[in-house]
Amino acid sequence: MPQGFFITFEGLDGSGKTTQLKRLAAWLQARGHSVVCTRQPGGTALGDRVRSLLLDSRLDAETGGVAPMAELALMFADRAQSIEQVILPALAAGKIVLCDRYTDSTEAYQSGGRGIPFATVQTMHQLICKGLQPDLTLLLLPSLQSSLARARRRNDKALHQKGADENRFEREGDAFYTRVYQAYRAIAAREPQRVAAIEDDASIEDVQQSVRSIVAERLGNK
Ligand code: TYD
Repeated sequence: MPQGFFITFEGLDGSGKTTQLKRLAAWLQARGHSVVCTRQPGGTALGDRVRSLLLDSRLDAETGGVAPMAELALMFADRAQSIEQVILPALAAGKIVLCDRYTDSTEAYQSGGRGIPFATVQTMHQLICKGLQPDLTLLLLPSLQSSLARARRRNDKALHQKGADENRFEREGDAFYTRVYQAYRAIAAREPQRVAAIEDDASIEDVQQSVRSIVAERLGNK
């Protein structure tokens, strides 16, 4: 049985979760905790390859379109490797794992965004991740309006870039991101014990203060 503490960060592209994760890691380390930071897709040699494949904006043109189920299966292939090589060993060693995205992203993007039935994602999670759930999920959810504005800015930037890049998802339009946003809200409403949603457009500092107090409380109650 895992002894450590498993925390995931979730949110739309550009929600600031990566910045928040890094700051939280530094804060926890300064308090003597042993922390492992990782991300999905990625974080293992196999996962980094899956990541560069899935996030490459040329992929759709090169392949004639990626089947949503193929995308789903690749996300779970990445996750299986991450669980085996990074997450479970770190938890077994009593560490705090901070993971940038996990199965909630699959529910939000592949189910909410792409329309794959939620039951399919859930079944794959049970099979492939053996149901491993985070102890705590920090969901950064600024208003839909500012999330869309941010996604659009990234999208515009992506359109001006050439060659291999990590913008494939950021090229999606507002309708896609609205569905992803709604799926995230549904997850937070369904699992309030696990998912702490930070739903305002506060500054990086203010969001970090909220993140720290939620984490401190949960670690204290462990
Ligand atoms: P990430 O690097 O976290 O993007 P950002 O830093 O822009 O937030 O994630 C890469 C992309 O992969 C992101 O657009 C969401 C997508 N994704 C899925 O569609 N399904 C998944 O299961 C995961 C883990 C990520």
